[in-house]
Amino acid sequence: MANTILVGAQWGDEGKGKIIDFLTEHADIVVRSQGGNNAGHTVILGAKKYILHLIPSGILRREKVCVIGNGVVIDPVSLVGEIETLKAQGVKIGKGQFLISDAAHLVFPYHRLLDERREVKKGRNKIGTTKRGIGPAYGDKAARTGLRMCDLMQPALFTEKLRLKVRENNAVLKALGGASVSFKEVNDACLGAAEKLRPFVTNTVVYLHEALKAGRNILFEGAQGTFLDLDHGTYPYVTSSNTTAGGACTGSGVPPHRMDRVIGVMKAYTTRVGEGPFPSEDVLVSDMLHGMGREYGATTGRARRCGWFDAVATRYAAMINGIDDLAVTNLDGLDSLERIKVCTHYKLGRKQLDVPPTDTRQLAECEPVYIELEGWGKPTTEAKRWGELPAKAREYLKAIAELTGAKLAIASVGPGRDQTIVL
Ligand code: IMP
Ligand code: MG
Repeated sequence: MANTILVGAQWGDEGKGKIIDFLTEHADIVVRSQGGNNAGHTVILGAKKYILHLIPSGILRREKVCVIGNGVVIDPVSLVGEIETLKAQGVKIGKGQFLISDAAHLVFPYHRLLDERREVKKGRNKIGTTKRGIGPAYGDKAARTGLRMCDLMQPALFTEKLRLKVRENNAVLKALGGASVSFKEVNDACLGAAEKLRPFVTNTVVYLHEALKAGRNILFEGAQGTFLDLDHGTYPYVTSSNTTAGGACTGSGVPPHRMDRVIGVMKAYTTRVGEGPFPSEDVLVSDMLHGMGREYGATTGRARRCGWFDAVATRYAAMINGIDDLAVTNLDGLDSLERIKVCTHYKLGRKQLDVPPTDTRQLAECEPVYIELEGWGKPTTEAKRWGELPAKAREYLKAIAELTGAKLAIASVGPGRDQTIVL
């Protein structure tokens, strides 16, 4: 299947976990290249449900190698927790099967506290972060004051660096009216985690290049989605990494010309968790999906905001990411509707826009322009092949792919591995 980048084409939670799990069958190596444990992928295998935050879902298949690349930010204590939870569920995580970049930056408790305090300070203008400390950790990385996995692997050096960081950040936390952290507690917890992680830590760039030379197939699993991208998303209501296709290169050390294919994952409708403008948001869609028990976040349990499919957004996502193929998920969420709206343009004052405006305040003022399609009004969850989908559902899928401007390759009609239709 060659080297494939998988990205979210909306605001995250597109159902990437399931598509990654499906594509992993054809990959040798699965790589995470950005984000941290703000992500949450749910994978359902038979009767078992796994929730992954940092570890690629490829870990659920024994013969695959999973890599956490340099572009990821890692909370070492929570990563150890995730490894242990998976092991308790019977998942084997052996040396050589799981690799962690020694250049990845670390997330500490003071990052989490800063994340929380800054949100509180912002009041009504809060971003609605996952409070995992992601923004402050990437902030340290950009400010060149962060600590990395290679530091953690050298206990004496790490302790020395951490002491200064805790002192500085406690002063900042105090100024923000927050609690302080105990240097000793953080240091002890991190050094304890370090020994559990040590077998996995390595220069993953070298590993990936050797794998490329050996002709192995790599799948880059994106976290979050295009409109949460630090550069291209609805700034400042974004996450602090590059969630778009280019992030897979910088976050792994695999050069652009070695990438063969970009797959964009999008829901058959739109959701967003956290604050920020969302033109096609619709209370009726939210109520319907929440009423079905759907659209609650895997990481924070928050109810997601829901709305109609927004082709203005996905069209722009196809452009930024160079999406070749589309995977549309959650088609079954629309099964009961008689009519379905699809946003094709925005109206901003008297102007009609076919890409989102850069300015967030303008985006908040955009009015969605809709077309209406007929619903299919029956369950799609049993369909195994394209031909088994109701004709109206096929028309809907074709319409949203065409409006997005990429080829429809996969349709998903439920969380199970067998509820995946390949075109
Ligand atoms: P942060 O990444 O925790 O800083 O959160 C910034 C924004 O990104 C917030 O709106 C979060 O809700 C959103 N976000 C972060 N990770 C995810 C994710 O995995 N899925 C969906 N939204 C996310
Ligand atoms: Mg998620």
